[in-house]
Amino acid sequence: MSKAGGPVTVPQFMAAKSQGRKLAVVTAYDWLWAGICDAAGVDAILVGDSLGMVVQGRDTTLPVTLRQMHYHAEMVARGAERALVIADLPFLSYHVSPRQAVRNAGRLLKSTGVSAVKLEGGVTQAETIRALAAADIPVMAHVGLRPQAVRHLGGMKLQRQEAALLADAHAAQDAGAFALVLELIPRSLAARITQELAIPTIGIGAGPDCDGQVLVGPDLLGLNAGFYPKFLKRYADLRTQAIAAISRYADEVRSGQFPDAEHSYE
Ligand code: KIV
Repeated sequence: MSKAGGPVTVPQFMAAKSQGRKLAVVTAYDWLWAGICDAAGVDAILVGDSLGMVVQGRDTTLPVTLRQMHYHAEMVARGAERALVIADLPFLSYHVSPRQAVRNAGRLLKSTGVSAVKLEGGVTQAETIRALAAADIPVMAHVGLRPQAVRHLGGMKLQRQEAALLADAHAAQDAGAFALVLELIPRSLAARITQELAIPTIGIGAGPDCDGQVLVGPDLLGLNAGFYPKFLKRYADLRTQAIAAISRYADEVRSGQFPDAEHSYE
């Protein structure tokens, strides 16, 4: 998937695995940042329900609503010209029944312009993944740490249940998922799942052997204060730079240095 190529399709995304190309995925939540991620040449942009935490300032992703996902997904889809755009199905928008999932995911595709959805679960969501795939709604599954199950799991912890996670990964693939997110699992287990599956695995806190990686955009850019998990590499310190720029602006307004002649009309 070259930077200059047309929009990345689901089949192209899947083909990266057999072609030995690693996939770079990042989250974004609005038009502005989607355009920046797209210009950087990522393969896919995920409109993650992590927006509940990094945009809304909540402790978990649980309060995020489908209406909010529509709002953010539409902006991201308009901002991304090339990357594949995938939107999260938020908590309780697909758990009730496969019919509920098809209706909600279908509306998301119809009205926002995203190309695919993501849901959390493997074995327990197999029937739902199958129903989505049968309705021609591309679905990415997400196993390991499932943030929407934080209450059930007792926290955002490393997941080590090897047999259960292997079963989840295979169930998601067999049901028709086109890709699989592996979150917070030991690298040896992620390597095994990646080797056993034909669909691409996208890791976050799952080591280097996955077929691709995903990071939360504001985390990798250093926009968040106080979040330093071992798996996170910060590629910039934009929070510090933004605070410095805004405080310089405020100082110049207060001292009368801004606006100067250069920034005023005669
Ligand atoms: O919501 C999200 O941003 C995610 C990624 C961390 C995979 O699910």
